[in-house]
Amino acid sequence: MSATQFTPRVFSGIQPSGNLHLGNYLGALKRFADMQGLEMETVYCMVDMHAITVWQDPSELAHSTRELCAGFIAAGVDPEQSILFNQSQVPEHAQLAWIFNCVARMGWMQRMTQWKDKAGKNQQNASLGLLAYPSLMAADILVYHATHVPVGDDQKQHLELTRDIAIKFNNDFGIDFFPITEPVIEGAATRVMSLRDGAKKMSKSDPSDMSRINMTDDADAIAKKIRKAKTDPDALPSDVDGLEGRPEARNLVNIYAALSDQTVAQVLSEVGGKQFGTFKPMLADLAVARLSPISTEMARLMNDQSEIDRILARGSERARAIAAPILDRTYEIVGMVGAGKR
Ligand code: AMP
Ligand code: TRP
Repeated sequence: MSATQFTPRVFSGIQPSGNLHLGNYLGALKRFADMQGLEMETVYCMVDMHAITVWQDPSELAHSTRELCAGFIAAGVDPEQSILFNQSQVPEHAQLAWIFNCVARMGWMQRMTQWKDKAGKNQQNASLGLLAYPSLMAADILVYHATHVPVGDDQKQHLELTRDIAIKFNNDFGIDFFPITEPVIEGAATRVMSLRDGAKKMSKSDPSDMSRINMTDDADAIAKKIRKAKTDPDALPSDVDGLEGRPEARNLVNIYAALSDQTVAQVLSEVGGKQFGTFKPMLADLAVARLSPISTEMARLMNDQSEIDRILARGSERARAIAAPILDRTYEIVGMVGAGKR
């Protein structure tokens, strides 16, 4: 069954674990906000249950969840137009994940690069949740029968697994029930790289703070990090082919394109031939102009935590209204007595 037979619905999630950075903004949040205009229902989730697959200090988890909610709203996600909530408050995610744990195979989970990266050498000591993580992610998406999932490039493998789970469930039970979800990995910045190393993804876990621009960085910090960003000695090329073999140059141009809503070709037609000494201040000005209003708004929203909590509670109710009947029907398909009475 193709996703087109389902009502189009967008779902995506971000983990509340540590600070948001420019990669999260360009690869996820900004695109989430942009998708609100496309006449699809948009459902966005702070995935607190994913976050605890590695240890989280409880008070920091609560803080990060609220701050992430503020980040969504400040980046342009409207809590009326979109459904905005935290995962743990919609228990249907965990309930469907259990069914999927029994559909997915161990080998599928063990092949995931994120599992291998995060578990490292000591897999025996990783949490069972870290291994089962993609099954919960599939449940997040499929409990809404979501058809479109905007994410950064690093989530591609997890979305393929989501499709595999939907296909196997549909086959096992001989029913076309779950949609085969479309990953939406588009734009100039689906993989924002570290400012210190063009071969590494910009990430909240990088020990060097100079490697990333945090959403909470002030103008001086943003300008300094861009000024010190690693580059090569050549001038910028005038066309896209000229970025071949120049990962740091490509990254800065991609960031510029995404922040200014232009294509890479458009940017290069403007800045081709310029030295980094000229381009970096242009990029810093643009980044500050785009990001400072967001961090100011995040700080303002964080002053009223009870309002954030109300937004999340209301979002959870709206999310449950969609998820509960889909879970109930799933239970019925699987043969759980008592289901299907809704
Ligand atoms: P995470 O912070 O790992 O929960 O990621 C949240 C979202 O941000 C996901 O859609 C990721 O794919 C996206 N993301 C994380 N890091 C980057 C990056 N460096 N470039 C682009 N997207 C990213
Ligand atoms: N795994 C995603 C990440 O680490 C977060 C996530 C959890 C997610 N559930 C999701 C993303 C469902 C999209 C859809 O970034």
